[in-house]
Amino acid sequence: MPDNQHNVLIIGAGLAGLYAALSLAPRPVTVLSPKPLGYGASSAWAQGGVAAAMDAGDTPEAHAADTVNAGDGIVDADIAAFVTSAAKEHVLELAEVGTPFDRTKNGGFVMSKEAAHSYARVVRVKGDQAGAEIMKALIKEVSNTPSITVLEGATALELLNENNTMQGVVVSEDNTTPYIIQAKAYLLAAGGAGSLYLKTTNPPSVRGLAVGMAARAGAIVADAEFVQFHPTAMDVGIDPNPLATEALRGEGATLINKHGERYMLAVHPDGELAPRDIVARENFRQHQIGNVPMLDTREAVGEHIKDEFISVYRYCQQSGIDPVTEAIPIVPAAHYHMGGVATDKQGMSSIKGLWVSGEASSTGLHGANRLASNGLLEALVYAATAADSMIQAIKDDQACPFVDDLQVPELGFKYVDEDAVLELRKIMSDKVGVMRDGDGLAQALRELKRLSAQNNGTSTNFENMLAAATLITAAAYNRRESRGGHFRTDYPDKDDQQKHRTEITYAQAIAIRDSV
Ligand code: SIN
Repeated sequence: MPDNQHNVLIIGAGLAGLYAALSLAPRPVTVLSPKPLGYGASSAWAQGGVAAAMDAGDTPEAHAADTVNAGDGIVDADIAAFVTSAAKEHVLELAEVGTPFDRTKNGGFVMSKEAAHSYARVVRVKGDQAGAEIMKALIKEVSNTPSITVLEGATALELLNENNTMQGVVVSEDNTTPYIIQAKAYLLAAGGAGSLYLKTTNPPSVRGLAVGMAARAGAIVADAEFVQFHPTAMDVGIDPNPLATEALRGEGATLINKHGERYMLAVHPDGELAPRDIVARENFRQHQIGNVPMLDTREAVGEHIKDEFISVYRYCQQSGIDPVTEAIPIVPAAHYHMGGVATDKQGMSSIKGLWVSGEASSTGLHGANRLASNGLLEALVYAATAADSMIQAIKDDQACPFVDDLQVPELGFKYVDEDAVLELRKIMSDKVGVMRDGDGLAQALRELKRLSAQNNGTSTNFENMLAAATLITAAAYNRRESRGGHFRTDYPDKDDQQKHRTEITYAQAIAIRDSV
């Protein structure tokens, strides 16, 4: 094969990308990793773990039921059944490749409880180190797998789609002249959109690039309006906001305000372990009225925080907080995008030859509100599923055609204006955040249009970010009700007529943007 023609191209090197590459072995694959392996991926920052019915008293059916309940009416129940029934097998696979899961004295898995789970079913690693440790194990495995070629420093800028079939990906390395890579099958696994917001728990490079790029190439996007805000990001002046894992509340940590009130008890019968969107909204409200919401781990976790929640403790130390004697100031922050590129049951997008997995995708598992620790799980299950489906497609002669003399389109590849990015993040946080309304969303759309005109094609990367932001905002503008992570102060109730998933194209989002 010529140098620019590959078997399978995986765009992104987080959990989904690497797990798919391993699932494809020994078939040759090329993985684009914009940063050195392990850096820049949200997966490595995940504290909670992987949700799986591992315990004899638990069942995939109970896990699926909790997933459906948390998703507030619009989870695809078949997908929930499929993903939860595959969960155990993938956790065992991760253990097999060396993930040092926390174990009980007799060798079982330590299971922790997180919000809206009816059972303690989250497997964790060294307390709050799940993401980092799983990634470490996968990276080691990848480096021992000769069929996997990793192109570090390579960023995808544009997907080339002709007649709704993938033709190639325009790649740039360190802002040098872009070139095209062609493959028989493509997997987009390049993460979510958290850092489109000013307050986020995601790495700075997770800016909606995958969903924006795919939508600009013509892929259908599903459930774009649903962004999950984590209720307990630390409010300690660090960008991105460090996460204080929900597992702390699972261990009994409480939420209090500056008056010492345990306010969640008055909001929901499950108190601090109410569904994530409900806790996030109340924390947001407490923050807005100056009540300084805080996570109090003193009594429930005490000194154990030092060795069981190493990341949280380290961030507290950095911020001059002693969580053994003081409560931790918190604020809701963008954490996970339930929306993404719409996929079918095999993980394939509406563009032939393009599969999507991980947070960039929208499979229907999460509905309006993702159940805690289902994110890593979905990435594993759908990376493996997409890998199988790609193998089958290549076997069945359904591979993408290689095109000779494909020309690199004119792209703005060099320059992202970080001041404009900051402006974008402010717009998203102020007007498309935890609480939304029609006027604010319309104003956001107008401002996104202005930023796009200002960019004028200078940076394709920024255009991808703006595309993702426009899709989220236009879909939020269109959903005139409140459900899960999407709350409209002008439509505070659920409306049964709108109890369904949504689909939107980039062209439709632009039409909405231009109509307000
Ligand atoms: C957490 O540890 O609180 C986050 C887990 C998740 O987002 O699934």
